[in-house]
Amino acid sequence: MALLAQQLRTPLSTINALAQGLIRRADRLSTHDVQVKAEKIWRASLRLDELIETILSYTRASAGGIMLNPGEFHLSELIKRVCREQGGQEPDRPFHLDVKDVPETIVGDPILLEQALVIVVSNAMKYSRPDQPIDVTARGEDGMVRITIKDRGIGIPERDLPFVLQPFFRGRNAKKLPGTGLGLSLAWYILKLHGGNLEVESREKRGTKVTLMVPETNTTGLSYSI
Ligand SMILES: Nc1ncnc2c1ncn2[C@@H]1O[C@H](COP(=O)(O)OP(=O)(O)OP(=O)(O)O)[C@@H](O)[C@H]1O
Ligand SMILES: [Mg+2]
Repeated sequence: MALLAQQLRTPLSTINALAQGLIRRADRLSTHDVQVKAEKIWRASLRLDELIETILSYTRASAGGIMLNPGEFHLSELIKRVCREQGGQEPDRPFHLDVKDVPETIVGDPILLEQALVIVVSNAMKYSRPDQPIDVTARGEDGMVRITIKDRGIGIPERDLPFVLQPFFRGRNAKKLPGTGLGLSLAWYILKLHGGNLEVESREKRGTKVTLMVPETNTTGLSYSI
């Protein structure tokens, strides 16, 4: 809890300091200065919103409260949208998208699957330099769609790798970046609810590849405790 509170305080103090600066020096700042500060405030508030959303979703999931609400939807459209929206936050980063043989529609919970994908793509962005490419592929095979997200970032130290799906766990090389350690465990849980899986491969200082395995139709509706 102390760690979580600390994570929430960081963007909050950024907002606080920047807003106070704006109030105190309003008459001396150029339009450009105001714009730069306002943008920083906006980014910090986005981060805060993201943190709160992760904590709430995790709390709901760990209380067994996430239910699948499956429906038929276009998975490749969802993947493209997530890449476009996440990539839009860092316009200079190359995003390579390669979708092949994915069935027109699948049955699953599009809101939860989008959340899982956003978690993994935003990790790839957070843990690699903003000029490094991210490769996203999707392939349909034997009733399963495999989505991979590959970055060329800081990677995960070998001895931390077995623990990254555990809630609150953060790699030793990740701690200077903001985060709760809940994202991947929530994404894993969402894939498990779909009868699928999530796997992480990584090499420190080289990069990370996360694979989401999404069944085309098999939604188990099983409850997993995390
Ligand atoms: N793409 C990645 N590159 C390097 N390390 C990663 C990557 N994805 C996850 N990790 C490691 O796994 C840990 C757990 O990831 P997870 O997404 O659950 O938490 P987080 O990113 O620390 O926080 P948050 O849940 O708020 O995003 C991270 O702290 C980091 O050490
Ligand atoms: Mg994360």
